[in-house]
Amino acid sequence: MHILPELPYDKKGFGSVISEEGFDFHHGKHHNAYVNNMNNLIKDTPMVELSLEEVISKSAQEKLTGVFNNSAQHYNHSFFWNCLSPNGGGAPSGDVANRIIRDFGSFETFKNQFSDAAVKLFGSGWVWLVADENGKLSIKPFSNADTPIISASKPILTIDVWEHAYYIDHRNARPKFVEGFWDIVNWEFANKNL
Ligand SMILES: [Fe+2]
Repeated sequence: MHILPELPYDKKGFGSVISEEGFDFHHGKHHNAYVNNMNNLIKDTPMVELSLEEVISKSAQEKLTGVFNNSAQHYNHSFFWNCLSPNGGGAPSGDVANRIIRDFGSFETFKNQFSDAAVKLFGSGWVWLVADENGKLSIKPFSNADTPIISASKPILTIDVWEHAYYIDHRNARPKFVEGFWDIVNWEFANKNL
């Protein structure tokens, strides 16, 4: 039985970027539904014994679309909540800052490229910062539930650009949500993922 993780912070700490109601719907309803759907789809199957990552890769290999979509969305959202912090934002520090400068030239260049990918991703999906086998960073847009966890790349940071991620607080204005992300991004978590 997979469970909805608790948010690792107070929902009231994100100002106008994400309201308490925004979290109540995105975490409490959307993410929760993915967890419940996944549990219902795998119950009474051998997949019930597997870890979340194993369920995602097995359902991808066997083209079990419903299981894949719900389990990958459970993983993606669990990762995303950790990418946010009420004390976040600003320029990165530590190893992630050095690698961003090494691989993109500057933080501003990276920020502009990541924001551009997030604003322009057509339809629903996620934009990820990933590290390849050699530790080189790159920006990867993924549609729908697709996730880097089943690729050779290591996930470092992500933003959810499904409409449900911003509609309550920003209506249709995805660029406002993407702009706000930089005020709440958790660089400490990104550093831990390197
Ligand atoms: Fe979402």
